[in-house]
Amino acid sequence: MGGVELRSLPRVGPAIVEKLTAAGFDSYEALAVASPGELSNTADIGESTAADIIQAARDAADIGDFETGTAVLERRKQIGKVSLLIDEVDDLLGGGIETQSITEFYGEFGSGKSQITHQLCINVQLPETHGGLDGQAIFIDSEDTFRPSRIDEMVRGLPDEVLAALLAQRNIEGDPTDEDTIETLVEDVLDKIHVAKAFNSTHQILLAEKAHELANKHADTEWPIVLVCVDSLIAHFRAEYLGRGELAERQQKLNKHLHDLMRIANLHNAAIVVTNQVTADPDSFFGDPTRPIGGHILGHSSTVRVYLRKAKGDRRIVRLVDAPNLPEGEAVLRIGGAGLKPE
Ligand code: GTP
Ligand code: MG
Repeated sequence: MGGVELRSLPRVGPAIVEKLTAAGFDSYEALAVASPGELSNTADIGESTAADIIQAARDAADIGDFETGTAVLERRKQIGKVSLLIDEVDDLLGGGIETQSITEFYGEFGSGKSQITHQLCINVQLPETHGGLDGQAIFIDSEDTFRPSRIDEMVRGLPDEVLAALLAQRNIEGDPTDEDTIETLVEDVLDKIHVAKAFNSTHQILLAEKAHELANKHADTEWPIVLVCVDSLIAHFRAEYLGRGELAERQQKLNKHLHDLMRIANLHNAAIVVTNQVTADPDSFFGDPTRPIGGHILGHSSTVRVYLRKAKGDRRIVRLVDAPNLPEGEAVLRIGGAGLKPE
């Protein structure tokens, strides 16, 4: 895994990859903060090679740089928002799910995490005038959760004017009440959701790298990829790294995964949405539920946490827990056959 990454550095062949990996230098990040002497000693490679490798890793690692306030402002101006088409919830989120950041939906089973990711894969495709970003979605599915039939129902459940806008956007002629027309539309919406099942955590990490490639491929096209959902982010990690002694390794892998996702968010101005099942009593993995996921390794990029709680019937309470520039608060939505709807 790390080897694949390391091999693309200059002066690094298979033999050196093996030495680096054996010595624990298995990522750009690990190399970027090493000193030439340390690397040379522990990995048993020449010091000048070590210095070159470190420099290349620093260039590749994107370890962060200083930016002027103006540059930050410029970057933030590009932030797009995906609306849930529920005013109360959109307001809570400052207009919707933001690009250039990771939004984590967490809550117990049945709280609506997967429904939200399905709905966002549709809403991101809407024209900007209707709350979308005119873009495509990637769905990394670790729990065999994705259901095309659910997308079908949700598309049909969109408000009439939104359906009309979706048809116009794709030059599909006809009326949404016409079965052939709506079927064509549903098919087109499904075509713009790229789904892959993750069989284990390593596979999931690879899929995030693939997602980056796919986003590269669609960049500068009419339909860029601007949403990546990972449902669930940590189920595999949790199942595979059980022992206490494995916690550090699990966190390290998860950090790498989040870092990869964040890179897509930044380079493609994409929204990243991840889900995390917690028991009603938020579990020990993340400890304090008000603390950001993955610690602070995500650098200048922000992470928004949203807690979902079951309420009466099909109602769910949406609580904004940790957002860098929004007040905390709550809103209500309903999960119905036609998708997520206002109270
Ligand atoms: P876990 O993945 O088990 O942690 O749960 P989750 O938070 O992903 O829940 P999910 O989004 O799958 O479901 C939330 C609720 O949505 C369910 O309890 C159902 O009430 C409702 N729901 C799910 N699928 C459908 C559907 O096809 N039709 C309708 N009407 N409601 C659904
Ligand atoms: Mg789910």
